[in-house]
Amino acid sequence: MSKFKTEIKLKGTVHYEVRDGVAVLTVDNPPVNPLSDGVRAGLFEGIANAEADTNVVGVVVTGKGRAFIAGADISEFGGEGDGHGLHTVFKNLEFCSKPVVAAINGLALGGGLETALCCNYRIASPSAFVGLPEVHLGLLPGAGGTQRLPRLTGPAEALKIMLSGAHVPAKKALSLGIIDSISENIIEDSIAFIKEKAANTSDHPLVRNMNDKVIEARGSENVLVEAQAMAAKTRKGQFAPGQIIKCVEAAINCDDFDEGLKKEAEYFMECLLHPQREAMIHIFFGERAASKIADVPKETPVMDIKKAGIIGSGTMGGGIAMCFANAGIPVHIIDQDADNLKRGMSVIEKNYDFMVGRGKLTSEQKDAVFGLISSSLDYKDLHDCDIAIEAVYENLDLKMDIFKTLDKHVKPGAILASNTSGLDIDAIASVTSRPELVVGTHFFSPANIMRLLEVVRGEQTSNETLATIMSVGKKIKKTAVVSLNAPGFIGNRMLFGYTAQANMLLLEGALPHQVDQALESFGLNMGPFRMMDLVGLDLGWRARKLGGKESPLHAKIGDSLCDNDRFGQKNAKGYYNYNEGSRAPNPAPENEETYEKISSENGFTRRDISDVEIVERCILALINEGADILSEGVAQKAADLDVVYINGYGFPIWRGGPMHHANAMGLDVVVKKLEEYAEKTGSDVYKPSQLLIKLANNGEKLGDAPAIEDRKEKLNFAMSSVANNF
Ligand code: 3HC
Repeated sequence: MSKFKTEIKLKGTVHYEVRDGVAVLTVDNPPVNPLSDGVRAGLFEGIANAEADTNVVGVVVTGKGRAFIAGADISEFGGEGDGHGLHTVFKNLEFCSKPVVAAINGLALGGGLETALCCNYRIASPSAFVGLPEVHLGLLPGAGGTQRLPRLTGPAEALKIMLSGAHVPAKKALSLGIIDSISENIIEDSIAFIKEKAANTSDHPLVRNMNDKVIEARGSENVLVEAQAMAAKTRKGQFAPGQIIKCVEAAINCDDFDEGLKKEAEYFMECLLHPQREAMIHIFFGERAASKIADVPKETPVMDIKKAGIIGSGTMGGGIAMCFANAGIPVHIIDQDADNLKRGMSVIEKNYDFMVGRGKLTSEQKDAVFGLISSSLDYKDLHDCDIAIEAVYENLDLKMDIFKTLDKHVKPGAILASNTSGLDIDAIASVTSRPELVVGTHFFSPANIMRLLEVVRGEQTSNETLATIMSVGKKIKKTAVVSLNAPGFIGNRMLFGYTAQANMLLLEGALPHQVDQALESFGLNMGPFRMMDLVGLDLGWRARKLGGKESPLHAKIGDSLCDNDRFGQKNAKGYYNYNEGSRAPNPAPENEETYEKISSENGFTRRDISDVEIVERCILALINEGADILSEGVAQKAADLDVVYINGYGFPIWRGGPMHHANAMGLDVVVKKLEEYAEKTGSDVYKPSQLLIKLANNGEKLGDAPAIEDRKEKLNFAMSSVANNF
């Protein structure tokens, strides 16, 4: 094999080899072969070489490693485009004088599938996936995908694929007409195939000429209306989906293919320049960067997790067990109560049955995955687990007892993890003989669905333990973010300030549905009062009652509702009323008397509060607390906070998370607004974080956590459970 002499600074390359009269172009840009400048140059030159070589009768384009091509190089967006443009390369590919087959050896996503759609033929290996996931990045398939895919699958299926961003397995891609065949020996078969085609026909198909399916859709609005409904439901607030639909409309209605391409380019450019694109790409890289821990070397060994144990068969324990089983890792659940365990196992089975009912699993798959979950009442049965995760309710003494027992029964060298949402992981580790193997793994409910995993690093947690948990996190399809062992960790600490401010707005004159609507219009999945009703208003109230503590100002209304037997969704009345079996909130006018009484008892004259003030006060509280978390070194970088908030707390991805939102607002504006609210409310919550002031003065942005010397002093553990505070 010879390599092109691409310039050193170019990223990626394409190997060129002539085999049996066929030019084989192999994209090599590890780990997933994006179309970086070196790859574009390599394809350009490879096609030119194949054209020029009289011994070559056809061309095979393929990828090295596990991917065919994972798309355009995302890191190039927003920068200066260098070298050969994708459109030029694709044009040469599409109009190559010799027939071209894409040998799709693995993932063909975005520009990767678009490359294949410019080839005359497409053969995929059985394990390949194809898709156009640009929508996840605030983009649309901008290299012909919106015009070519509808020509193969019909506009309705193409819209589903582009609006969902789904990865379509080879078998389904074949049935949809995206690929022509599936082959186990992809390279050899593709070489033979293209040789045969070159010998027997000069009429090689081009997707651009396949117009039947788009013409068929002309004159009917149904397809586009359904796509709009799908986008409104699943991608609320996002800009790119509407652009994708407009592109497909052009594919349907433009007589001239190139006219459609022109429209696609125009709509693509609008996406590229839109702030949502920057926000969503920030999260793409943020999620990947979160798993890299600055002071844990890359080469740290990772333990092999072959079996997991779970302590507690409640909602969390069951959900966590499903995560492991879904990843093919056997898991054993123990509980101290036989009835609980039976109930817990039956809930898990019902969840799987539900998936079978929805066509997400076959019965055989369900049997296989559910068969990986065993259960018993005895700690001894956890002896051979490589990790044991405790998932009982939040009580430090109980957790410490459990860890003492686990330390006795689980084999030496195994990791002991706690699913605590706010308890001191060092206190828990201190009762074991292996504090270096103790770590917090805070899952979010429902654990089998929510993507966030907050990993809590104790004082003595070893690098190997951390590296293993980050790798397990990836295996069980979680986005893992590391927090130091500090009160509330990252997410719940930020949430605390945010919900407290929502409650203060209620005291000052706003109503729950007004606050919720304002924040939901901003993009949050669920406003704070709906969320508090979902979690249960009684958690903090009960803890305060038990401890004989006064209600803090922000909790006075919620506690008073609990005094009146209103606990939230669990008993169908809280800030809202709920109909039996429904989670839909209905206004509760009977609460207004309570709001007025408590406002006046605490010296507030209720006033009209604008939606702008509601959003600013709640979001600024998040940002300011986030900046403190960063300045204390509890989180490694601002993007970690964004990843936590998007994956665990329903913050809109298209705003890039609270810290990215602050950067987009401009930190000078953030500081000024904080100062204004500090003066207006007299609350310390709005006293601008020193970090924000410093960065704003220097014209800088929130990024990596600053270097810290007195971290330990700052991390004096103060809060036993965050749940007590709301
Ligand atoms: N560009 C640049 N880097 C990419 C990339 C891309 N398209 N896709 C992945 N990478 C990088 C990741 O950042 C990561 O880098 P790191 O190791 O330094 O953190 C590395 O490749 C491996 O990625 P993952 O950790 O995500 O590996 P996985 O195996 O978990 O997932 C994947 C692989 C499914 C390909 C996933 O990376 C992915 O979804 N990539 C994005 C695919 C995509 O969105 N393609 C469309 C791009 S936009 C486009 O093509 C526009 C066109 O229409 C004009």
